[in-house]
Amino acid sequence: MDKLKITGGRPLEGEVQVSGAKNAALPIMCAALLSAKPLALTNVPRLRDVSTMARLLAQMGVAVERSEHSTVLHAKAITDPTATYELVKTMRASVLVLGPLLARCGEAKVSLPGGCAIGARPVDQHVKGLQAMGATISIEHGYMQASARRLRGARIVMDLVTVTGTENLMMAAALAEGETLLENAAREPEVLDLARCLGAMGAKIEGAGSDVIRIQGVRSLGGAEHRVMPDRIETGTYLAAAAAAGGKIRLTGAAPKTLDATLDKLREAGSKIIVTESSIEIETARRPVAVSVRTAPYPAFATDMQAQFMALACVADGTALITETIFENRFMHAIELQRLGADIRLEGNTAVVRGVERLQGAGVMATDLRASAGLVIAALVAEGDTVVDRIYHLDRGYEGLEKKLGLLGARIERIA
Ligand code: EPZ
Repeated sequence: MDKLKITGGRPLEGEVQVSGAKNAALPIMCAALLSAKPLALTNVPRLRDVSTMARLLAQMGVAVERSEHSTVLHAKAITDPTATYELVKTMRASVLVLGPLLARCGEAKVSLPGGCAIGARPVDQHVKGLQAMGATISIEHGYMQASARRLRGARIVMDLVTVTGTENLMMAAALAEGETLLENAAREPEVLDLARCLGAMGAKIEGAGSDVIRIQGVRSLGGAEHRVMPDRIETGTYLAAAAAAGGKIRLTGAAPKTLDATLDKLREAGSKIIVTESSIEIETARRPVAVSVRTAPYPAFATDMQAQFMALACVADGTALITETIFENRFMHAIELQRLGADIRLEGNTAVVRGVERLQGAGVMATDLRASAGLVIAALVAEGDTVVDRIYHLDRGYEGLEKKLGLLGARIERIA
């Protein structure tokens, strides 16, 4: 059952609960490698990528206990500090084991992730930072062979803002000898959630969430309990769907403070938004107004929300400019949206989207996780049926998408 059939044209109404954040859960699961004590996690999303990470850690000797939305990871001993190509090629975030393995075991063999649909995505900043901490890293047969007797603190100025690069180096520095200063660090909320978890394990970290992070290395880390933060991209996706399809929905278990840029743009598009500590309500009574967005590192507008806002722009009143500054090939969904009758012109890293009155249902192909979310949003608005193929991309990052959209009144089903 690898397709979704969506019959569009109905506003969304109702309430759904947001899941835990994929992009926080993955690095936090890797943090378990840093300690011989158990790490108990709650609010862990049930996603394909989380299962892949659990399998990767288990291969290294980590005891993994999973139930519904809880996971206990116990890396009493790491028997094999290797991340194989077979697993890494299915999930780039596997590179997040490199820093913790080096810090805990003094060695690691991690497959290079290779490119992906949205860009080349090198890991040179991860390698550069670990080398600055005294690691020896060579590339052999597609693998990073890394070793270090004990990592030592260093001042690392990253050439560009990288989320998993910051996370990898922060985890490595937690057990390094002395102090590490990470400058031009990523400020994403997921980095902060990881730092909170590491702090609960006994790490000494200051400044997470800002672009300068200071880590005082310790000899060893303990166990901890940690609740994974809500998924701000999943939240933003449902909000964009409601802005495009119309109607009134409420998202509970959310973290509104991590969505400022997205909420500002939705207000600009004409939606009424009410937030509380942990919920967001959106009401859209009229056709959205075209809003332009430019992606950039947090707290600016997230690249992981770009495709969803392109779908919104397809039916908005006016012309929107969608500019992608993070990934060099993140407009694959534009071609598929044109199949639904969208008016999109690509000019370098900007898409010029002229809103149309109506989209028409058609067959489309998902190319990556967020592109598929954009196609689902367009299908909710399009007249008639749309069939989205290759939705395994969606399962990597959205827990129970069709169930949740069904709860909001959408006509959606998984088909073979
Ligand atoms: C994280 O990827 C997220 N993934 C991505 O979400 C997200 O799109 C991205 O950050 C940006 O916000 C996870 O957290 C698991 P980067 P990451 O390193 O860390 C270049 C989703 O849809 N770069 O911040 O891999 C890179 O090529 C996914 O959930 C280097 O050149 O992204 C890109 O152009 C997709 N050298 C830019 O930096 C490096 O060593 C930012 O990438 C590292 C990155």
